Amino acid sequence: MRRPVRIAITGAAGAISNSLLFQIADGSMMGDDQPVILQLIEMPERMEALRGLAMELEDCAFPLLHTITLHDNVEEGFNNAHYALLIGARPRGPGMERRDLLEVNAEIFTRQGKALNDHANRDVKVLVVGNPANTNALIASRNAPKLSPSQFTALTRLDHNRAKGILANHTGANPLDIDGIIIWGNHSPTQFPDLYHASVLGQPVMEQIDQEWYQQEFIPKVQTRGSQIIDARGVSSAASAAQAIIHHMRDWTLGTPPGQVVSMGIISDGSYGIEKGIFYSFPVRCNYGRYQIVKGLDLNAFSQKMMKHTEQELLEEKAAVNHLLPAETEASH
Ligand code: LMR
Repeated sequence: MRRPVRIAITGAAGAISNSLLFQIADGSMMGDDQPVILQLIEMPERMEALRGLAMELEDCAFPLLHTITLHDNVEEGFNNAHYALLIGARPRGPGMERRDLLEVNAEIFTRQGKALNDHANRDVKVLVVGNPANTNALIASRNAPKLSPSQFTALTRLDHNRAKGILANHTGANPLDIDGIIIWGNHSPTQFPDLYHASVLGQPVMEQIDQEWYQQEFIPKVQTRGSQIIDARGVSSAASAAQAIIHHMRDWTLGTPPGQVVSMGIISDGSYGIEKGIFYSFPVRCNYGRYQIVKGLDLNAFSQKMMKHTEQELLEEKAAVNHLLPAETEASH
């Protein structure tokens, strides 16, 4: 049996964690031969709810669940963590502008970045889920100079899975037979769900769908799916977000299936002309615990325009929090 790995999770008593934790404990994320220690973190006023959740986890008697620890602060909760899932964030309240949300969360993710820097394992893999996820990842990473920015990622697998599910439904294909979907850019309505490289059973998707449906219906549907779910449910997506977190972390750690492409929000290295230093969703393949951007894809004028638009939004988000970011050091890039 392997040694247990430590997984720290913020917002651990929230709706996403409610299904996520049980999937992690049953081996869906790290593999069915990998014991896990769950380091669950919540705000002090949520600790009672967290204790209840911990009791339920214990009551499942998961063979792979080595230990659960509960924490009301990230400094303690991130201790020696090999993985950190940053789910907790302040949602947008009445009358709050996007800029206010950025600023409030900037404080939270500044503290979390520092705590990861000072307390987590030096090889920690970090996934930011709390919105605005890409810019929160930037803030956390810039506050963790001892860690490489490549250790930080933002969740766009949810958008990737949404695109795959909607396309499968439209074409009648099984999601397993679809490959090559790409989400470019921000986890926001400016993202670009790209089907130009996608295939169903090896046949180009673009030969099987109508261009007008793609541009007028499919793209806006994927881009605004999060708010459509909020409108319908009254609360944001939870189970599908948990599933996407499992997929993202499992692929990053255990590798993507041969040849398969997935989308991850990662630090831009300038690929495809995207400005360096922002967290942008790219097509990647993972192997041996690392991801690599899929290079050399041909991009038509429409794609380039869409990619620039979402890049622009990320640059604006960065500008809005720039005064809160520590100066870039040599080690952080
Ligand atoms: C989602 O994509 O479902 C969420 O990011 C939406 C939100 O704003 O909570």
